[in-house]
Amino acid sequence: MNASRPETVLILEDDEGVARLQQKRLERAGFTTIRVTNPSAALEIIRQGGIDLFVLDNQLGGAEDGLAFYHRIKNAGLDLPVILVTGYSDDATIIRALRAGVRDYVFKSVEYLDYLPEACRRVLDQVRVQREREQALVELKAKTEELRATTQQLWQAARLAGVGELAASIAHELNNPLGTVSLRLEGVLAKTPPDDPRRKSLEIIDSEVSRMARLVANLLQFSRPGRDQVSTVDVCEEIRKTIELAEHHLRKRRIILRTEFDPTVPPIFADRQQLRQVFLNLFTNAADAMPQGGQLIPRVRTGVLQPNQPAVVIEVVDTGVGIPPTHLGRVFDPFFTTKDEGQGTGLGLAICKRIIDQHHGKIEIESEVNRGTTVRILLPVRNGTNTEALH
Ligand SMILES: Nc1ncnc2c1ncn2[C@@H]1O[C@H](COP(=O)(O)OP(=O)(O)OP(=O)(O)O)[C@@H](O)[C@H]1O
Ligand SMILES: [Mg+2]
Repeated sequence: MNASRPETVLILEDDEGVARLQQKRLERAGFTTIRVTNPSAALEIIRQGGIDLFVLDNQLGGAEDGLAFYHRIKNAGLDLPVILVTGYSDDATIIRALRAGVRDYVFKSVEYLDYLPEACRRVLDQVRVQREREQALVELKAKTEELRATTQQLWQAARLAGVGELAASIAHELNNPLGTVSLRLEGVLAKTPPDDPRRKSLEIIDSEVSRMARLVANLLQFSRPGRDQVSTVDVCEEIRKTIELAEHHLRKRRIILRTEFDPTVPPIFADRQQLRQVFLNLFTNAADAMPQGGQLIPRVRTGVLQPNQPAVVIEVVDTGVGIPPTHLGRVFDPFFTTKDEGQGTGLGLAICKRIIDQHHGKIEIESEVNRGTTVRILLPVRNGTNTEALH
């Protein structure tokens, strides 16, 4: 099996003469042999490891025969290939032995023992091929899984791109009428004296139209393809922009938003579009976790990623249902979702993780069931160094 080491065959045989014959045949064929005379000695050696094959006499003398001993070592989790040495015409034992997983058998006689080395060689070859096949299967499975994950990411990217295109075209279409409304409104406002009772309503309309214009501008930026978009980014500003986009959704769910931004955080070098996508995913998750309402706190402060590596720390805190410990290790896996069909694809956090990885940052989650969840993102500050992977 292993070219650099002769294979070791353990022989359990109490008959001195037979054992010597077996050892001679096997050693002449290049095997190393170890001989024991009773099951407990055999067990001891098997436990120590390093045995490639076990030649087991079926007549052990005691209450237990070879086949029963084979079952015992198998049940102890010490499975290794076995050749059973049986008496002539003991067909019933042979059939039972082969069914139980014994690899081969030889009869206990001088002429049949000549066949032992060949049997050993064949069994060891079988075992090697089987192991190689199992190994190949494991590798194949891993590759298949990798391929599946990549395909899905691609699919998701394509889907997002499709949604983005649609959003962009709608936003574009809205831009023109909004411009007209805004212009007309300005004219009407200019002609309305401050004490006119209609003035208040017009001002409200004006501010709502501005809000719509902001939303549309935001959407347009959001849906722009995110290539070569690396620039100096004010994280708080990006979060604010994302909030504007999600505000309606949050308000509808009676979620109270409270930002805690440290105004001294430095700008970082990042892809603005991708960061917004991260924040939007996190806000959506938080909102989904608070169907009865709750608090959403986006927090930004300075921190360190490693010693001597200044970082911007972003936390998205919610007071939602939380994540049970058994799920916590899987939430970043693509397709892990607890949401109903059509509600979630399970890709949100996987995408967040990929984006943060590309920015050389770190993303982690703390959660307590029925208390809430905190997603923490650390992005390095050193300009330029955190975005090499994006190019
Ligand atoms: N803030 C949170 N509170 C509670 N559970 C969460 C939170 N964020 C994520 N989870 C859990 O992690 C799972 C995976 O989240 P992820 O964003 O990757 O996928 P999703 O939200 O289910 O679907 P998608 O984001 O693709 O629409 C969720 O289904 C949910 O169970
Ligand atoms: Mg999600």
